[in-house]
Amino acid sequence: MRILTGIQSTGTPHLGNLMGAILPAISMGRSPGNDAFLFIADLHSFTTVRNPEVLRENTYAVAAAWLALGLDVERVTFYRQSDVPEVAELAWYLGCLTPFPMLANAHSFKDKSANVNQVNAGLFYYPVLMAADILLYDGQVVPVGKDQKQHLEITRDIAGAFNRAYGEDTLVVPEARIDEQLMTIPGTDGRKMSKSYGNTINIFLPEQELKKQVMGIVTDSKALEEPKDPATDNVFQLFRLVAPAAAVAEMEAKYRAGGYGYGHAKKELLGTLLERFARQRATFQALMADKGELDRQLAVGARKARTVAQATLARVRSRAGYPVSHP
Ligand code: AMP
Ligand code: TRP
Repeated sequence: MRILTGIQSTGTPHLGNLMGAILPAISMGRSPGNDAFLFIADLHSFTTVRNPEVLRENTYAVAAAWLALGLDVERVTFYRQSDVPEVAELAWYLGCLTPFPMLANAHSFKDKSANVNQVNAGLFYYPVLMAADILLYDGQVVPVGKDQKQHLEITRDIAGAFNRAYGEDTLVVPEARIDEQLMTIPGTDGRKMSKSYGNTINIFLPEQELKKQVMGIVTDSKALEEPKDPATDNVFQLFRLVAPAAAVAEMEAKYRAGGYGYGHAKKELLGTLLERFARQRATFQALMADKGELDRQLAVGARKARTVAQATLARVRSRAGYPVSHP
């Protein structure tokens, strides 16, 4: 089964992205019978990112994080969206079969255009490019968060319209797989960890900066000697998610006994993060210092993706009335 999904290229992923999305996706890519396509949606970023250096670095940071966390480019087709420019051509064909009101009424467009002062047409066209991302590669199952549900419905509608016009076997109509967020990782203030709340923990930061984030976790003001409730404490909630079971039980007992402060717990959490992700941190730094290596790893996926893309595009071009090859 061809499973396909896109990752926003918004920079280095945080612990919430890691535990909630990246690690589960990597293990899904490992299960036999799954032919996974995973790409960094750097063309979508162009709707908002105007700085070329930031655009490039964000993409590299996302790639380095996924690779450091164990993504195997021989098993998963992992590529940068812009490395297969065929997607832009397909988006054009699809756009011409997309009813204007469908895009104008999309929730994400309405939300985004209400919040920015310059509404560009790329923002409006975003779902068409996303449909092309999926349809270009014959994606069958598309795991996405709830917020992307409507985009998948639009993709299915566009694919349906295309197939009615040009033959039912032109495009594969994909199914969404909505992950109901099995797990929400709390941030340093107890709310959902999110870049927009400024409450993230980023395991790829240099030790001193990571330490600052961990030491900044919000706690109540109980004195060192007082017993503490692990169920309501942010430090413990994060520790629980990353530490081995025995260490978690031990910390829980210390909380209840008293004489153990939040400062101690934070140090243990920091130590655990550094230990658990030691290899990943080192790999991330090494990859970020060697963009040539990142490009080589991404090129493996781009070649595989491009072969599939060209076959789909040949089908679409010939049915729509365009030459399949160019002079
Ligand atoms: P975002 O950048 O917020 O769109 O998130 C990218 C991916 O990470 C999505 O699949 C989210 O479901 C997941 N994710 C983001 N924040 C968290 C969190 N605090 N806990 C669990 N998963 C998260
Ligand atoms: N729009 C998606 C998001 O914001 C990212 C994305 C782009 C995507 N193209 C895709 C997801 C294709 C799934 C399939 O998260």
